[in-house]
Amino acid sequence: MKALTWQGKRSVSVEEVPDPIIQEPTDAIVQVTSSAVCGSDLHLYEVLGPYMHKGDVLGHEPIGIVAEVGSAVTGLHKGDRVVIPFNIACGHCYMCLRGLQSQCETTQVKSKGTGAAIFGYSELYGSVPGGQAQYLRVPHADYGPVKVGHELPDERYLFLSDILPTAWQGVQYADVPDGGTMAVFGLGPVGQFASRIGRHLGYRVIGIDPVAERRAMADRHGVETMEYAKDIGEQLRELTDGRGPDSVVDAVGMEAHGAPLGALAQSVVGFLPDKLAQKAIETAGVDRLAALHAAVDSVRRGGTVSVSGVYGGEVSPMPLLSMFDKQIQLRMGQCNVKRWVDELMPLVENDADPLGVMDLVTDTVGLDQAPAMYQKFQKKEDGCIKVVLKP
Ligand SMILES: NC(=O)c1ccc[n+]([C@@H]2O[C@H](COP(=O)([O-])OP(=O)(O)OC[C@H]3O[C@@H](n4cnc5c(N)ncnc54)[C@H](O)[C@@H]3O)[C@@H](O)[C@H]2O)c1
Ligand SMILES: [Zn+2]
Ligand SMILES: [Zn+2]
Repeated sequence: MKALTWQGKRSVSVEEVPDPIIQEPTDAIVQVTSSAVCGSDLHLYEVLGPYMHKGDVLGHEPIGIVAEVGSAVTGLHKGDRVVIPFNIACGHCYMCLRGLQSQCETTQVKSKGTGAAIFGYSELYGSVPGGQAQYLRVPHADYGPVKVGHELPDERYLFLSDILPTAWQGVQYADVPDGGTMAVFGLGPVGQFASRIGRHLGYRVIGIDPVAERRAMADRHGVETMEYAKDIGEQLRELTDGRGPDSVVDAVGMEAHGAPLGALAQSVVGFLPDKLAQKAIETAGVDRLAALHAAVDSVRRGGTVSVSGVYGGEVSPMPLLSMFDKQIQLRMGQCNVKRWVDELMPLVENDADPLGVMDLVTDTVGLDQAPAMYQKFQKKEDGCIKVVLKP
């Protein structure tokens, strides 16, 4: 089959690789019909490269048709249409039973000290082949895959794999008071959905992003938008009676603009051999923290910062004085996809499309064009906001 593979820093290519096969009786094989590219893939393309191996198959946002099931899979059948959550979870361990599927104790990558395995997400998350490919092997297939109807287009359901539940969790964790104000840093796909969810729940939402087209997309969903600037905390306080927003969602992550020191550290790490680079990531601060620090600065006293963006530096500096003095609450983590799917399903199937799932994708292309699309998405060229591949 054809699959998109990681080849090196800022280098991916479509290669012919062996078709996946059933390895465990609990596996299924899915023929992928659509597979999205995520902001998280950009971290593998850039900063987290030291944890990738040449030839690793990327992708963790797939939807498709079940082609084959293992002998122990009872809930899925050939021909079922399924969207696949990006975390691989068992559904019955201590963590899964508590709605913490991203911490699944059955699939945790214990050798790396990390949480549940993730499709296409480096050795940190189990080196599991990903879904930007024609076929995908899905472990724990009785639990993960979400069965959906055959009538609506892929894009209605596709984002249940990751960014829609991620945004939903980000807003839940933001703990916004009724009728309160939520600021969202980053208007990429995750921030777009977090903002729209905030509006849907009746909050005032202020979205911040340096990129004009991304602000324009948020504008048309009832979000007040601002350009990122150094004094963004001051500007947000001016808009909120001098206090700052009740809650702030960081939907930017480790590659924020406006963080020259972190950017330097990341580019230095980029020149190191993998082992040394891993050491640097694990023992030095390699995150670009402009957005996270701005979130802490701008949230009101006693408010909540909810971090959806992915961070990776083990000792990245945090402004503990402000965090403690302002009495902020901080929540974060990979999304527990399955925990939120039931709440989201009626919204994505609703004719009125209240979260605008049909107004996000800017680029739909065949797998062959994926390498060019990674470049375009990373550089945010030509209004590119969300890429969907059709393998
Ligand atoms: N927690 C999870 O489970 C989970 C799931 C999916 C994605 N993510 C993470 O969420 C983050 C966003 O993902 P995405 O797909 O929307 O990616 P993206 O890269 O398209 O979005 C990031 C956005 O942040 C903006 N930005 C950069 N610097 C900024 C700054 N200083 N202030 C405000 N905005 C700034 C960029 O212009 C961009 O629009 C990534 O870190 C991704 O890894 C986390
Ligand atoms: Zn993703
Ligand atoms: Zn589990």
